[in-house]
Amino acid sequence: MEDEGLYITSAKEGGVSSDNEERLSSPAKNIADVEIENILRPKSMEGYVGQEKVKDNLAISIASAKMRNDALDHVLLYGPPGLGKTTLAHIIANELGSQIKVASGPAIERQGDLAAIITNLNEHDVLFIDEIHRLNHNVEEILYSAMEDFSLDFITGKGPSASSIQIALPHFTLIGATTKAGMLSAPLRDRFGVICRLETYSVTELTEIVERASKMLAITITKDAATEIAKRSRGTPRIANRLLKRVRDYSIVKRHKGIELSDAKEELKLLDIDELGLDHIDRSILKSMAEKFAGGPCGLETLAATINEDAGTIEDVYEPYLLQLGFIARTPRGRVLLGKGYEHIGKKIPQNKKEQLSFLTDDCNEND
Ligand SMILES: Nc1ncnc2c1ncn2[C@@H]1O[C@H](COP(=O)(O)OP(=O)(O)OP(=O)(O)O)[C@@H](O)[C@H]1O
Ligand SMILES: [Mg+2]
Repeated sequence: MEDEGLYITSAKEGGVSSDNEERLSSPAKNIADVEIENILRPKSMEGYVGQEKVKDNLAISIASAKMRNDALDHVLLYGPPGLGKTTLAHIIANELGSQIKVASGPAIERQGDLAAIITNLNEHDVLFIDEIHRLNHNVEEILYSAMEDFSLDFITGKGPSASSIQIALPHFTLIGATTKAGMLSAPLRDRFGVICRLETYSVTELTEIVERASKMLAITITKDAATEIAKRSRGTPRIANRLLKRVRDYSIVKRHKGIELSDAKEELKLLDIDELGLDHIDRSILKSMAEKFAGGPCGLETLAATINEDAGTIEDVYEPYLLQLGFIARTPRGRVLLGKGYEHIGKKIPQNKKEQLSFLTDDCNEND
């Protein structure tokens, strides 16, 4: 692994899940991803596919910081898991020619932990705090002056013997990453000069990511095969890389010279991942809504109990993509299955539902 500086995190705290280890189509990072991601992570802006608006914005801020010979403004990267926040943080540091120190929000428990990290930074270094929405409130408080005035102000001792200490800090850049920007407090959010929202990737962009990753894994892949994997990756590079790895294994076992369309199709069929990237749990959510709840509305807890899944997992892991596809909708009375959702599981939407749902479907179509 490249030198990432101080790494204050653990597999669990750093957001690596082992619960969904077997679920290939989950965007959340699992233990098996760690090694492959370090190999496939692009190191420069040229290797970082897509996110053009974000890259343009950052390029200007980086160029300006260099010309002013000052630290880059603090950067907040937010968006769903697996879209490239950690990757981009490392690329920004590379482009700046600065050292990066990596820490994870929940692992910085006390003010002193943060003080130890920040006081060890050099001028213009990058401090990357992953899962910044999970920072302890006390720690967040001393981060405000560190970000704004490059000084650490904190109080030691209690009662009459309490005294305040002020330490001047080097001009550093904080890069914060979060999947839950809404959970960030307003004062913290306001202290970021550059705020970038990462979007899901198009099939064309994911195809390029798969082709590039194949090169790094030293295996050839046809355009068709790369596109097939891209289509089933739910707009997420992490899933694309994970599927590519499985398809590569299949092709090697079959003693093929490179990856062909048939390898991709056959392996993805074995993995039970359909042409939109849905797996059997996604489909059982849709089926259960259609068959057991007459299309809804149904409550999250009830739905979870029916398919024997955890409600939180459905909400965070499965539901976002189904909502994005316009297969389901959230209403104040619960989740409802929409026309496209019925279609995907080969069912017809009942006539009475069609009328009830027309306004929701129209809303979803506008977002397509
Ligand atoms: N724009 C991109 N171009 C090429 N590869 C990418 C891109 N974005 C992400 N990847 C690949 O996807 C993998 C996952 O990306 P990364 O770890 O940066 O996601 P993340 O947004 O930090 O996820 P999390 O929220 O779970 O921390 C990386 O290892 C990298 O190989
Ligand atoms: Mg990350």
